[in-house]
Amino acid sequence: MLREGGYPLAVCGIAGYVGPRGSVEVVYDQLKRLEYRGYDSAGIAYLNGVDIKVLKRAGKLSNLGELLGDVPNDTHLAIAHSRWATHGAPTDLNAHPHFDRYEQVAIIHNGIIENYLELKEELARAGHSFHSETDTEIAAHVIGAEYAQGVPLEEAVRRAVRRLRGAYALVVISRKEREKIVAARNASPLVIGLGEGENLLASDIPALLPYTREVVILEDDRIAVLTREGLRILDLDGKEEPIQPIHIEWDIAAAEKGGYEHFMLKEINEQPEVIHQCLAGRIDERNMIRFEQVFSEHVWNEVDRVNIIACGTAYHAGLMGKALFEKMLRLPTDVFHSSEFRYGDPVLSPKSLAIFISQSGETADSLAALRLCKDRRIRTLGIVNVIGSSIARECDRTILTQAGPEICVASTKAYTAQVLVLTLLALHIAQVKEMPGVRPAEYVKALRGLHEHAARALELEPSIIDLAERLHRTPLIFFLGRGPDAHVALEAALKMKEIAYIATQESPAGEMKHGPLALVTEGVVAVFGATCASLRDKLVSNMREVQAREGEVVVVTTDDDTITPTSADHTLRIPGTGFEFLDALLSVIPLQLLAYHVARLRGCEIDQPRNLAKSVTVE
Ligand code: G6P
Repeated sequence: MLREGGYPLAVCGIAGYVGPRGSVEVVYDQLKRLEYRGYDSAGIAYLNGVDIKVLKRAGKLSNLGELLGDVPNDTHLAIAHSRWATHGAPTDLNAHPHFDRYEQVAIIHNGIIENYLELKEELARAGHSFHSETDTEIAAHVIGAEYAQGVPLEEAVRRAVRRLRGAYALVVISRKEREKIVAARNASPLVIGLGEGENLLASDIPALLPYTREVVILEDDRIAVLTREGLRILDLDGKEEPIQPIHIEWDIAAAEKGGYEHFMLKEINEQPEVIHQCLAGRIDERNMIRFEQVFSEHVWNEVDRVNIIACGTAYHAGLMGKALFEKMLRLPTDVFHSSEFRYGDPVLSPKSLAIFISQSGETADSLAALRLCKDRRIRTLGIVNVIGSSIARECDRTILTQAGPEICVASTKAYTAQVLVLTLLALHIAQVKEMPGVRPAEYVKALRGLHEHAARALELEPSIIDLAERLHRTPLIFFLGRGPDAHVALEAALKMKEIAYIATQESPAGEMKHGPLALVTEGVVAVFGATCASLRDKLVSNMREVQAREGEVVVVTTDDDTITPTSADHTLRIPGTGFEFLDALLSVIPLQLLAYHVARLRGCEIDQPRNLAKSVTVE
């Protein structure tokens, strides 16, 4: 049931407990059960005498654990949070929980409050001051201001969330109403566990399973009120709703993967949510791009060349960036493997910009290349998933991909988010430079629907499983395309070789006849990306070249393509967005699924392929 429509992306870990046990011990144990997803800081709030006591620490969970020695074991209500930072560095101060102005409520939050800057200005005008850089503290102050009107906690939360825009799972406790935990949700995961004389909540099911298997999935725009004895759920008008628990059969290992067999499949399925999250707060009502903390206008007018530097999948995302920057901005762009760049004595214009793309932010060659650019006084911009990582800290500016923790060694959702950030960046520069012929607002409209297109691309899975059955014994798979499809082909081939251990040959389709065609014999499979409508006729010739040598042809294209499917043995159709570049990006989804299912049929160790590591921090 949970698998339908993907699994909501949990970026931060949330836990809460009310009941007879030592609550701090319980919520700390819950956080440990969410540890596999990664975090950068953690904190707990519990009721202590007449106060709320908050403990928090940056870094490992054990750092927080060290503070728990003196906590009394007769505290029966607590909430806890492990943070994967999106706004504000991973410091003690930015860790959750956060208090309101009057320290009457403490809150934890997963998600992004998109209008927090507006709200912050408004609160500051009313005399509020803040201790952290987080959007969460702003939400705490909004709730606290409502609560100060003397209403019950759930009413204060209900009124406050009407003012918040964006994604959130918020959990709130109060100094005065010492028997309840109030939670609200919009687009960020929140699950409630129903126990005997005790109740719990969490961002993810594994953190509930040791205590109960009766679970309620809180829907969007609902408020939950948990006490020892029970649970009430209200809609945003305050009307009470029926409670429909489900019984969870999964074991804990399966639950960590959201019911999926592997993290890779979970992460592939998270992509609609990742797209949503990556765009959150970055496109406004006027369909304009808004980036905090990137360079100002004069920098974009000065930059005469871009060098994108990255490794592996991030390098493939960089190739997409080059295509965009050159096509949309006419800005000369080169893409380098970090290991080549750092030892290659690169020619660097003083007005150039170096962009470093990295999921982990710790890849040794990328970091060394960054330091080389800094020594040469070149401007640097990071596109990084892990906030607080070395590359994120050392670049002049950093844009976070906001894809959430990626656990499978083979990167999937991080790639999608990297390409999306590059798209937003190109549109942002086009907007600033008022590039003739580029209409960012039109593009932004398509971006708004992109997560739905991604969800539809995921629906191809049953036909991909059939295809994988046919292909999984093939000794060699070609991945080919033209234009942006050629770049996606490189990424698709990397997935296939790294997790399924099948040899691949990847190149622009036009290069086939300059050598690779010699490898085509009976049984060889060629996968063509054909989302680029203007180049389909050319692709058909390449497809025929393969078939003439008894190779088998698979094509991934958009649903309106009438040209290439007629020449293919198998066709996978994704919904077209009207923008070739976005179509090419979405075409990676069925290709990730294909690699996954081929690997699965071959009995491979999918999440941890042999000889490879998630983060390559040595040369
Ligand atoms: C390793 C990982 C790849 C990743 C590459 C670059 O090879 O297995 O998935 O693309 O490193 O890592 P980064 O963290 O810099 O993106």
